[in-house]
Amino acid sequence: MTQTRFAHIEVDEGVYAPQDDSWLLCEVLDQCDLVSDKRVLDICTGSGILAIEAALKGAREVLAFDISPAAVACTTRNAERAGVRVDARVGTLADARVAGPFDVVVSNPPYVPSDTPLRGTGPNRAWDAGANGRVVLDELCDLAPDLVAPGGSMLIVHSEFSDPPQTISRLERAGFDARQVATRVVEFGPVMNSYAERLEAAGLLEPGRRVEELVVVRVDRR
Ligand SMILES: C[S@@+](CC[C@H](N)C(=O)[O-])C[C@H]1O[C@@H](n2cnc3c(N)ncnc32)[C@H](O)[C@@H]1O
Repeated sequence: MTQTRFAHIEVDEGVYAPQDDSWLLCEVLDQCDLVSDKRVLDICTGSGILAIEAALKGAREVLAFDISPAAVACTTRNAERAGVRVDARVGTLADARVAGPFDVVVSNPPYVPSDTPLRGTGPNRAWDAGANGRVVLDELCDLAPDLVAPGGSMLIVHSEFSDPPQTISRLERAGFDARQVATRVVEFGPVMNSYAERLEAAGLLEPGRRVEELVVVRVDRR
């Protein structure tokens, strides 16, 4: 999958530019054939790439939430450029919960282990996710029973550094079938490169290693 395939996506300053994690989840979304005529949520939408992909794949209704007003404005504009309807709203996972449940939920949440406090809606909020990288992931797992309708599914992408087995076990405990459906080893991007020395010092990264495995977890509600 190449970036030309996403010519409708333009990214404003401060909004997360789609990259390997975004593209991997888009690929899985395309292959799964999950969204046709379904009510879909993209939580942590950024540029709207996943929401728009769901709409292009025939979703009946697509809601997209992001904590960043700039991301929401960007999503709205990109959906118009793609010629699809996406209801993009400023909000957190808790706000999305009020609008739920959904047949399909997709998410590329922040998941990079970070020692900076999570404040505001600046660019770092796209990736910083607390000491273990799981602040948003754990909330997503906890809210999954309210977000995903009976018979529905969720696709989440994150990295080996934020403990995919933990995502799977939390969701299984919550009554879902959860499994890893795609992986890809990628070179570190700018964020991971800038955090690498700190991750090495914390023992989270082997010295000199500059690749990570991205993982897509699929969850089906029993
Ligand atoms: C890694 S980016 C993913 C963007 C896009 N979905 C993609 O795949 O390219 C994560 C996004 O989550 C948003 N975000 C961070 N914390 C959030 C929260 N608690 N609730 C909603 N959105 C949040 C950020 O503003 C950012 O746009």
